[in-house]
Amino acid sequence: MKNVDSINHVTGKSVYLDDIPVQKGTLHAVVFGSPVGHGKIKSVDYAEAKKLPGIAAIITHEDITGDNQIGGIIEDEPLFAEEELHFYGQPIALIVAKDAFTARKAKTLIKVDVEEYDVVTDPREAFKRGDLLFPSRSFQMGIVEEAWKTCEYIFEGRADIGGQEHLYIETQGSYAYPTDNGSIKIHSSTQGPTAVQKTAARVLGLPMHRIEVDVARLGGAFGGKEDQASGFATMVALAAYVMKKPVKITLDRPDDMQMTGKRHPYSADYKIGLSKDLKIVAYQTTLYQNGGAASDLSPAIMERTLFHSTNSYYVPNTFVTVHSCKTNLPPNTAFRGFGAPQGVFTIESAIAQAADELNIPAYKIQEINFIRDGQEFQYGQIAENVNNKATYDQAIKQYDFDQIQKETTDFNKKHVDKKRGVSIMPVCFGISFTKTPMNQARSLVHIYQDGSVGISTGAIEMGQGVNTKIIQVAAGILSISTDKIKVESTNTTRVANTSPTAASTGADLNGHATRLACEVLINRLRHSAVESLKCNDEEVEIKDEYVYLNGEKTKVHWNELVEAAFLKRVCLTENGHYATPKINFDKTKEKGHPFAYHVYGTAITQVIVDCVRGTYEFDKVQIVHDFGKSMNPTIDFGQVEGALVQGMGWMTMEELAFHPNGKLASESLSTYKVPDIYAVPKSVDIEALETEGAELAILKSKAVGEPPFLYGIGAFFAIRNAVKSFNSSHKPTFRAPYTHEKTLMDLYATSLAK
Ligand code: MTE
Ligand code: MOS
Repeated sequence: MKNVDSINHVTGKSVYLDDIPVQKGTLHAVVFGSPVGHGKIKSVDYAEAKKLPGIAAIITHEDITGDNQIGGIIEDEPLFAEEELHFYGQPIALIVAKDAFTARKAKTLIKVDVEEYDVVTDPREAFKRGDLLFPSRSFQMGIVEEAWKTCEYIFEGRADIGGQEHLYIETQGSYAYPTDNGSIKIHSSTQGPTAVQKTAARVLGLPMHRIEVDVARLGGAFGGKEDQASGFATMVALAAYVMKKPVKITLDRPDDMQMTGKRHPYSADYKIGLSKDLKIVAYQTTLYQNGGAASDLSPAIMERTLFHSTNSYYVPNTFVTVHSCKTNLPPNTAFRGFGAPQGVFTIESAIAQAADELNIPAYKIQEINFIRDGQEFQYGQIAENVNNKATYDQAIKQYDFDQIQKETTDFNKKHVDKKRGVSIMPVCFGISFTKTPMNQARSLVHIYQDGSVGISTGAIEMGQGVNTKIIQVAAGILSISTDKIKVESTNTTRVANTSPTAASTGADLNGHATRLACEVLINRLRHSAVESLKCNDEEVEIKDEYVYLNGEKTKVHWNELVEAAFLKRVCLTENGHYATPKINFDKTKEKGHPFAYHVYGTAITQVIVDCVRGTYEFDKVQIVHDFGKSMNPTIDFGQVEGALVQGMGWMTMEELAFHPNGKLASESLSTYKVPDIYAVPKSVDIEALETEGAELAILKSKAVGEPPFLYGIGAFFAIRNAVKSFNSSHKPTFRAPYTHEKTLMDLYATSLAK
């Protein structure tokens, strides 16, 4: 089945936030943000700005009718700064005007007098100063201190990992207006309608039932709208509430890039110990997470770094610590992979370093350390149905890795100014929110009198195809055509208390909830048919829109079946509730069974580095991915391709740069480069691993949104291998992204850098 949105997307008919027809008298807002990275407001003068014709109001913390607090996990983030300023662009006020142009003009007329403080953007520096956002956490298994003594080889090193701008095509935005009785309705480009509802309720000082949040779809989110949409939505909700007028905000690109948090940069120290036969015996790492100025989702992201710090490998003795460091950057946030990529990059760096020192290719270490069924992850879950080695073996065989290596060696012998590099990147990603209570969802299914079906769930469609998958689930169980089914907008009055669509769980959670609702409905309809046909229960089946009696197709069509049931006063609506079974996690012990299942895969990446210029081109990425039994290969392969390229961008060309005062220097597409058609691999092969699929995955089709992002890490190590074959006197450090500049410097580095 094609993605239900594809035609409307390419013909421009899909309605995004900025396409919603606005009410008469709608006002437009622009955020006035901090002009410094760290400081204290001495005074702000709005007088000139307020005089500008067309300015309706300037809303500040003084207008807040509830709490000035938007921290989702930890209460450490004001909606509007009161006195202290902690990052450049931190919202101080909302300028509301007849149009956005006027509001922007007013912004330049605000005078603010600030006492500036020291700006810290480096997490290690923040750690040294004792600036942590919340307590550090460690996961451990075995005893590393004992294990070092038994290791044949021990290596220590450091990895530095850059952040990443989400660059969703649709920027942050929200539209809010008063409805009956002073309630507020909010349209928001958010992954978490309930988060928006809860935050707005708190700031406005209203019960949640007075705030309605509606989301049609997002023009991309990638984690950037899991938490960060709430602040902007709350600002316009507050303005709408106090001004009793509709108010809208759509961030322009530089504001969006400047004001919103990104993927967390990390810096890590690691120590890895191997036995003589290259088994990883012990691994210890300390990661410094650059959290930015407030906690946002950092505690949860820290958690997933801990979970995935050993990637696909079984390491009997592990000790991993993450410190979340408070810096003067916008609060960093969720981004596809959610902390896992930084942890995985670190252990892959440790393995690469070990391989360098032992003068062997990294895959010799990777391939013999894959976790196997029955072994324990460092968080206590016992590995089951592991497909790591299976994807690796299939990739090696199918893509003829021996031949790839031979060609690479031959090429590198023949060419002086160009070098090829190859890497292997294994992936293992746990599916479920690591916070167990979040693994629940609801689906409200209506069968209308004419036989058509409307479904509301908590899932947000952001391009990943979750609505299409929900239609497939319903169509399968009701056994009707997919065009009889429509997925409605996500709305907090229809489906309440939703988890954000995140952690790749959207299709699983909301799909299962839809399955449960549809199962109840189809049984009701079948029962109604049994009554009408005066037969036994097991004799009736509903198949392909017809009622079957003892396997024989009757003349009763779905539409008549529904109509008859309605006339008999059978309930044609059902609310399905799903909570992932089996999962648990005990934070006091840092052990449990947090994931419903894992997703596995292996990528082989080939690059050619131009050793005169430091530029590179990716020839091929070849992947074997464990989709389970993919319910929609078109969508799922698209997710793998998109995630791969996004991951490669993060590892190669996407580089955030900050001015010393904390202002983002790379705040436009002329200074922040993302992969374009010339940067993507010339070919991407994706093969599905043949498996039975996972029991807890919807229709046994595994979640696919985030795991393939990790394949992108292979790009870094492929470039690094090419660089090493040009310059054998230098062991390149592990500093991502591997930009062209860094590549050039490594190609000509002479020192044996340590
Ligand atoms: N795909 C598209 N096209 N746009 C997006 O914003 N977000 C990713 C992934 N794929 C995203 C995407 C992220 S971060 C997650 S967690 C999942 O989709 C969320 O959707 P799912 O749970 O339905 O997979
Ligand atoms: Mo995805 S980072 O869990 O929104």
